[in-house]
Amino acid sequence: MKGVAARYPAFDALSNQAINLQQRINQCRVNHQQASPWRMESQELLSLESYVAIQSRGLPFSPSTDARMQAVVQRGSVRYQQRMGQLDLSCAQCHDQRWGLKLGGTVIPQSHPVGYPMYRLEWQGMGSLQRRLRNCMSGVRAQLFAYGSPELVELEAYLASVARGMPLESPAVRP
Ligand code: HEC
Repeated sequence: MKGVAARYPAFDALSNQAINLQQRINQCRVNHQQASPWRMESQELLSLESYVAIQSRGLPFSPSTDARMQAVVQRGSVRYQQRMGQLDLSCAQCHDQRWGLKLGGTVIPQSHPVGYPMYRLEWQGMGSLQRRLRNCMSGVRAQLFAYGSPELVELEAYLASVARGMPLESPAVRP
């Protein structure tokens, strides 16, 4: 499992789409273990995802350069620039143009995906990158993309491509 978490999201030929690590684990359950899939963001899936991720700790993010993934990253990049929600803000407006500044007492970080899944005190538990992205979306009062949706996977793929070379920190801890 060493290095696996550093490569996701990846293109899945079977379902002909990009999938993240939680979705890969579920695919393996269904196709190779004849087991039922776990609910996205369930404790079962988060714990197994964390266990896979910790084996890549310290390794550089190295997302796949598969041409099919490049199209996914491209869509994620467009989405990252798109304004959304009642506050009409894009991811880029906060994370690229205003990182380091404060938003209601919280410092806006750069949008690096390297620590996920992570334990957050605020959550009192583990959460995935998709949970983090949905939190940001509700922050701007946008309609949330569903867990496991192509939209969230595209954003994840874009963030991973920007983070290429950064060491994986998962499972990290944040306030
Ligand atoms: C209104 C400003 C704002 C917008 C718009 C926004 N975010 Fe965030 N984002 C934040 C803040 C503030 C935090 C840190 C929150 C905290 O620590 O509680 C954060 C955290 C994150 C993190 C976690 C970084 C880390 O080091 O753990 C990621 C990844 C992220 N955002 C991605 C996105 C993406 C992708 C979008 C677009 C869908 C987006 N954000 C939209 C303000 C924003």
